[in-house]
Amino acid sequence: MQDVILQTVNLRKSFGGLRALDNVTLTVRRGEIHAVVGPNGAGKSTLLNVLSGALSPDDGAILFEEKPIAGLRPHQIARLGLVRTFQISNLFENLTVEEALRAALACGRLRSTNLDRLRELLERFGLREQARRRAKELSHGDRRLVDLALAIAQEPKLCLLDEPTAGLSPPETARIVQLLLDLKAKKQTLLIVEHDMSVVRALAESVTLLHQGQVQFAGTVAEIASSARFQSIYG
Ligand SMILES: Nc1ncnc2c1ncn2[C@@H]1O[C@H](COP(=O)(O)OP(=O)(O)OP(=O)(O)O)[C@@H](O)[C@H]1O
Ligand SMILES: [Mg+2]
Repeated sequence: MQDVILQTVNLRKSFGGLRALDNVTLTVRRGEIHAVVGPNGAGKSTLLNVLSGALSPDDGAILFEEKPIAGLRPHQIARLGLVRTFQISNLFENLTVEEALRAALACGRLRSTNLDRLRELLERFGLREQARRRAKELSHGDRRLVDLALAIAQEPKLCLLDEPTAGLSPPETARIVQLLLDLKAKKQTLLIVEHDMSVVRALAESVTLLHQGQVQFAGTVAEIASSARFQSIYG
């Protein structure tokens, strides 16, 4: 059995009377791509916010490499190797792509100032020609590539991605899918929230279905299509 990198147990988070996460128990294994799917408002982004420390859970446990991390601050969690994609729109508007990547490398788990690593990332993510441009000058598609590059620059043990293909054209989506497959080939563990089931099928082996804050299905991608809960929710 592959070993477990992340385990949540009965995770709960409410906003007023609304249960956004209602006893969410989920296991992510090292080296896999685990997809979280579910309709709008299911609690998917809340789950990522709680895992990354942007929000504190009301109850329940989060074990990352067997260490309890619930309630730690986002930078403490990132240092341990659990990284969520940056929202460059907020953070890096006025930095160039290269400056932002240098910052991510320097803040990452390895605190790297290695220029070869910077060049390799620019090359791998097809951002060499954009290196001197400011994030705010980039197309939406290039910004999503920078989001992903900034997360990977931190050398995460587990990377959390919230709808990495949202708003992208089919060729841009294919590019992101290929980059994620390349990461998978390098044994990068990913937890990905994704609406597009064709993307889920292309990438993931395990999938968790959330609906109204509750886990409705957990199993393999092959199994989910025949799950009655999946069929009734997705119709
Ligand atoms: N900060 C907040 N304050 C109040 N309610 C919130 C907050 N964040 C999320 N919610 C509510 O919690 C529920 C779950 O939201 P969440 O954003 O996690 O859903 P989601 O599965 O990511 O949906 P989508 O597919 O639309 O991105 C929704 O009803 C949402 O309105
Ligand atoms: Mg969301």
